[in-house]
Amino acid sequence: MRYELILVNKTVAPYVAHVQLHRPDALNALNAPLMAELKQALAELDGDDEVRCIVLSGNERAFAAGADIKQMADKGAIDMLRIDLIATWDQIRKIKKPLVAAVSGFALGGGCELMMICDMVIASDTAQFGQPEIKLGTLPGAGGTQRLTRAVGKVKAMEMVLTGRFIGAEEALRWGLINKVVPVELYLTEAIKIAAEIAQLSPIALELAKEAVNQAFELNLTEGLKFERKNFYMSFATEDQKEGMAAFMEKRKATFIGR
Ligand code: CAA
Repeated sequence: MRYELILVNKTVAPYVAHVQLHRPDALNALNAPLMAELKQALAELDGDDEVRCIVLSGNERAFAAGADIKQMADKGAIDMLRIDLIATWDQIRKIKKPLVAAVSGFALGGGCELMMICDMVIASDTAQFGQPEIKLGTLPGAGGTQRLTRAVGKVKAMEMVLTGRFIGAEEALRWGLINKVVPVELYLTEAIKIAAEIAQLSPIALELAKEAVNQAFELNLTEGLKFERKNFYMSFATEDQKEGMAAFMEKRKATFIGR
């Protein structure tokens, strides 16, 4: 498939793919065609043995300024239900490979929600995060009330969702919304560096580990621990686990093959 609203590069680092949202004139507002391309590209990369970790970015000015307001403005509730714009966001959470968000500039509304679906977030010191939907007479619809609350706790989530105010990168770091803040000229390089580090590891162990961490949001502790233990035992069916432990004992670097 040829993409017009995203750019895909599979040569940024070994086993790392970079997907860039590319609708700069609209601050990467997430309209339906862009989300369809993103869903398609991520699904393809998820099934590609040459990719073990994916970096998702916008550009320096905006990661994404939210769902496309112009596309939604005149819709009725039934239109919204029928076209179900948000369904694509939900598809992205099914991606099994690690997703590292590289965020600069605005990450607002659906942009912040898309970022929160990612597994790690590297931000530039110019990044601004917000759920400003309340200022539009509506509320977050793609996880902003749920994932944000789980990430930063109730009162901070309430502050963002009820006031619509933006927070800067340092505040987001203190609140636990993001992993790291770097100078703007380094945010993408740093995200690719972390993705490259992850991509050296066993892709099966990564998939099992990502799945287990995400279950912490779905299950109670007993069920979550049971889930984790099964994935842990399952990793012993892989050649990568044998290689990883052999390499440790032989005091050498492991080479993982994804089997
Ligand atoms: N949807 C559609 N277009 C958008 C957009 C959005 N979310 N955000 C920005 N744009 C467009 C602007 O309309 C403008 O286009 P034109 O040049 O054609 O007028 C262009 O991008 C540049 O934007 P601005 O001129 O507004 O740039 P600025 O620097 O003055 O302001 C901003 C930047 C503060 C981010 C401002 O654009 C803004 O407030 N954007 C909307 C943010 C927002 O409310 N997001 C939530 C959307 S709803 C949502 O996401 C629901 C959900 O939960 C899924």
